[in-house]
Amino acid sequence: MKFLASLVLCFLCYNLSLASETYRVGIIGSTAYSESKRFLPAVLEASKHNVDIVVLPSKDLSSCLAAQCESDNYDESVKTLSDLAKKAKLYIVAHLFEKTRCQNGYELTRNNLVFDREGSIVADYRKPVNNLANCTSVMDDVAFTTDFGVTFGVLMGDDLVLKPSAGMRNYVMSGASHADVPPLNAHQFSASWSYVNNANLITGYSAFAGRTGRNTGPYVDLMKTSPNGPTTAPVSSLPSSSVPGEDLSHYVIRPVDMGRSLDGLTETVCQGKFCCDFYLKTKPETQKPKMHYGLAVFNGVRSFDKSHNIGSQNCAVFACAGLYKRSCSIGHEINSTVTFEKILISSNFTSTANYPIILSSDASKIIDKFSFDINPTGFTSLVIENGENLLNIAIFGRDFSKDSEKYYVDPKHMVNLNVYDYIFNEDVQEFFDYLWIRLRILIVVVSIYVLEMM
Ligand SMILES: *[C@@H]1O[C@H](CO)[C@@H](O)[C@H](O)[C@H]1NC(C)=O
Ligand SMILES: *[C@@H]1O[C@H](CO)[C@@H](O)[C@H](O)[C@H]1NC(C)=O
Ligand SMILES: *[C@@H]1O[C@H](CO)[C@@H](O)[C@H](O)[C@H]1NC(C)=O
Repeated sequence: MKFLASLVLCFLCYNLSLASETYRVGIIGSTAYSESKRFLPAVLEASKHNVDIVVLPSKDLSSCLAAQCESDNYDESVKTLSDLAKKAKLYIVAHLFEKTRCQNGYELTRNNLVFDREGSIVADYRKPVNNLANCTSVMDDVAFTTDFGVTFGVLMGDDLVLKPSAGMRNYVMSGASHADVPPLNAHQFSASWSYVNNANLITGYSAFAGRTGRNTGPYVDLMKTSPNGPTTAPVSSLPSSSVPGEDLSHYVIRPVDMGRSLDGLTETVCQGKFCCDFYLKTKPETQKPKMHYGLAVFNGVRSFDKSHNIGSQNCAVFACAGLYKRSCSIGHEINSTVTFEKILISSNFTSTANYPIILSSDASKIIDKFSFDINPTGFTSLVIENGENLLNIAIFGRDFSKDSEKYYVDPKHMVNLNVYDYIFNEDVQEFFDYLWIRLRILIVVVSIYVLEMM
């Protein structure tokens, strides 16, 4: 009788979870990753709050490469996580490194493992750590379906930029990416990706609910179908330390005249046939701004990380505290005191997927008005009103068809360069370097001559 009652009850609760429009996510992001056991208290706590699924934060790829990963105790980690999922009765997504035998040696793979409430592995998405793997190939799309009636796609950080979306409504993501520049790293790109695909994206640190924005938990209820609610701008923050600057040598860039932008500044900047229209209006400042801005355009194939080149089109407003060689660095001047009353960026993109990029030194600052529209013709526009602390505002387009091509920039961009653009041209830079070396020789010669005369 008791057994029957609990069976009925269980059936009811199962149906209840299926009927519910939401599911609950646990975010335990702040727990430092060292070994799987460390998550035990946080996951058990989540279990008390009826959490359905938890994505464990992943270890950094570069630290893994240096320390030879935890590949040796892979089996042990799997066992620990399986026991934990069973004990807490929730789904666990984890990222583990595994050393597998390959020909005469070993090969390192990254694995996204999903455990169900019984502790069984229901998905295993694996990738080689680098492109030189002989035994592991990159898998096609991996997905799993849960007992609360939601099917999740499984992603690693770099997939957001490298793969077109499979068009699902719910995704889990684990495993960092190592993009050359901040906006393309999973930490910064997730918000834009989730916004454009209007899909839930659960990571170890946040749950992104499509156009309605980011949630940091610790417990978040997400809509099973397309998230709905007020639209939030997909703003991401830059880590305040060691910000690598974008290499602008392949961009056409025009510095913004901050005096003119007070009255509203309209500019068109082109690289070859690809042109971006910009409109900027800034608020007057009490002190002299330390931060400068540049309008930058790129159309071609660029490097994403050490093993991938990607086809892209980019219209961007970049903040620069200083120009070092050919890169625009923010350095320690991470805060911008410039307030933009309005920014409008638009272009006729030919890329397959376009994303709004908004990087800020303070992502908690609300942007009054934000809109991002993609016309079927490819015309894409981004509007921001009353934005503060902004460091990079862009429309970033991905052209997946060009990914296998070698690094190149639209060659026609040499045409119609104006004087500002020229400063960033490599040949001219080299010319200045050459001039400076000559000048130094001349100074030495003159000094020797002067000394001789005395
Ligand atoms: C992969 O193949 C290359 C070339 O055949 C070889 O040099 C390398 O050692 C192989 N790697 C492993 C892990 O077996
Ligand atoms: C930037 O602003 C934040 C608060 O808005 C402040 O805590 C921080 O010290 C500032 N950093 C610099 C380098 O001025
Ligand atoms: C985009 O195309 C439209 C229609 O051809 C044109 O009016 C507009 O100037 C183009 N914009 C840019 C930035 O090239």
